[in-house]
Amino acid sequence: MGSISWDRQNGFTNEPYWKDATFYQVYPASFKDSNGDGWGDLPGLISELDYLSDLGVDVIWVSPIFDSPQKDMGYDVRDYQKIYAPYGSIEDVDVLLRESHNRGMKVILDLVVNHTSQEHEWFQESRSSKDNPKRDWYIWKPPRYDADGTRIPPTNWRSYFAGPTWTFDEHTQEYYLHLYASDQPDLNWENAACRKAIYDNTMRFWLDRGVDGFRIDTVNKYSKRQDFVDAPVTDPNSPHQSAPEMWCNGPRIHEFIHEMNREVLAPYEAVSVGELSNTPDPRQVRPYVSAQAQELDMVFEFSLIRLGTGNILGPKYIYQPFPLSKMKTLTQKWQFVDGTDDAWTTVFVENHDNARAVCRFGDSSTPELWNKSAKTIALWQVTLTGTLFLYQGQEIGMTNMPSSWGIEEYKDVESTGFYEEAVQSGDPELIKKTLHGLGHLARDHSRIPFQWDASPNAGFAREGATPWMRVHDEYKSINVARQRDDPDSILSFYKKALTLRKEHRDLFVFGSFTLLDPEDESVFSYVKRDIKGHTDKMAVVTLNMSGKQQMGTDVTSILGDGARLVVSTQEGSKLVDGRPVLKPWEGRVYVNH
Ligand code: GLC
Ligand code: CA
Repeated sequence: MGSISWDRQNGFTNEPYWKDATFYQVYPASFKDSNGDGWGDLPGLISELDYLSDLGVDVIWVSPIFDSPQKDMGYDVRDYQKIYAPYGSIEDVDVLLRESHNRGMKVILDLVVNHTSQEHEWFQESRSSKDNPKRDWYIWKPPRYDADGTRIPPTNWRSYFAGPTWTFDEHTQEYYLHLYASDQPDLNWENAACRKAIYDNTMRFWLDRGVDGFRIDTVNKYSKRQDFVDAPVTDPNSPHQSAPEMWCNGPRIHEFIHEMNREVLAPYEAVSVGELSNTPDPRQVRPYVSAQAQELDMVFEFSLIRLGTGNILGPKYIYQPFPLSKMKTLTQKWQFVDGTDDAWTTVFVENHDNARAVCRFGDSSTPELWNKSAKTIALWQVTLTGTLFLYQGQEIGMTNMPSSWGIEEYKDVESTGFYEEAVQSGDPELIKKTLHGLGHLARDHSRIPFQWDASPNAGFAREGATPWMRVHDEYKSINVARQRDDPDSILSFYKKALTLRKEHRDLFVFGSFTLLDPEDESVFSYVKRDIKGHTDKMAVVTLNMSGKQQMGTDVTSILGDGARLVVSTQEGSKLVDGRPVLKPWEGRVYVNH
């Protein structure tokens, strides 16, 4: 936990390790399959720890590996203390921890405690009768009836994966709440015994085994408004309405998270990073992460990574093109660390819930620009203030599934939910737009098998195996083996850039951020300053985010004549009148000392 506050006098030695650590998210089903069943597993991950360590990873975040019916890829947990058998065993987790720790890396697990699987024994008990002691561990409500006497759900809320947030249970004639799939009933955090069971059963159990912390799923949805009323109708065409104000950042949320920290995270000094959706205002985010509040170390806020999507609970997959200026102002907004308080931020551009960055923020359509734009994205990320998170495959510029693939290759419950909703609407235009949007944005794009080499199944699984998702058609040209020894590769650039980030951590990890030329739609430039007040050290980052040659920002006027180029994504040229001539998708960083 972030008990160590910002200290102007003492520099970085007093900062917690997780601030300048590089985190790397592993999506275990798709990382490495060791036994040929086509599903990634813990022995596979363990066999690649040297790869992660060579890359410069400090902390590995493993997406859920617990026993689960896999309706939502393990974000539906059946038993928090068992490992889903295809991933391996609890002993494999011990080996993962030991082998990672031996290499100086830490491991955090994914904590999914807003909901369980409906197959979890808690829910089985809860649904068994209205007077079961665990009845109140989930959120049950009686039906309503409309004017015609037809049974309708307790409220009109829309769930994440389309459809209502309520499912009727015949057995006790009541509805249970689920913000996600009907297979994922929400736990009732209002119930103190339920909270205590969560702390013991899902957290202490793993911390006692040596896990270093958690990425905490859906962290701001534990407290729901307790009046359970209808949301205003914003989509007149649907019976289900977007209602995050009913269940997000609810009345007791800070109390619950504070308790979780006090009871479990703090005593174990476990690092925490919470998934904080629907909270696009830094003033609302600070209370979660200020060291004083003693809640979480870090959160993920999604405004930037959601660029291009429609409204999250509704037309999410109607693609919305966006200008570079939008990306800049959102970057600036979340670079709010200014040394005046202890608030901290995170930096990330990919995860398992979003499509690939090089396709969304770069240019993956031609091989030339694919390599160059992936490096420029890398340089953007490594020069930003906050804790950096990478997602598997980002470091080799993995791309979205080919546009020629049909809907049958999409496996995600959210993609299929939105597609089915469009089909049911009978509106050909909506179907077309949804397919187009999924092609750009679906969660599936980041979930296809990792591309290790050019052998069959991309080295993800042995020859003859059938991977659970189709391997990318381009795996022979985009893979680790091909990039490992190539100094010009994306992978080599990431290694270099991650080292550079640490060498200049005063500027890149801890510095302040000043955006330049916010309206320029081609070049993204900013200044990073040492805000510790120790030095006048500064960096200018200037990134050409277009396919045409551009003039970068005036480096000399900011840094003086001593401006020194510390890194470029391409062979750099000299400054012309203080400004670099940037080739298509070239990025550079200059410092004044
Ligand atoms: C989080 C996860 C996502 C999952 C959802 C429900 O948003 O990142 O993958 O579907 O929670 O648990
Ligand atoms: Ca396997």
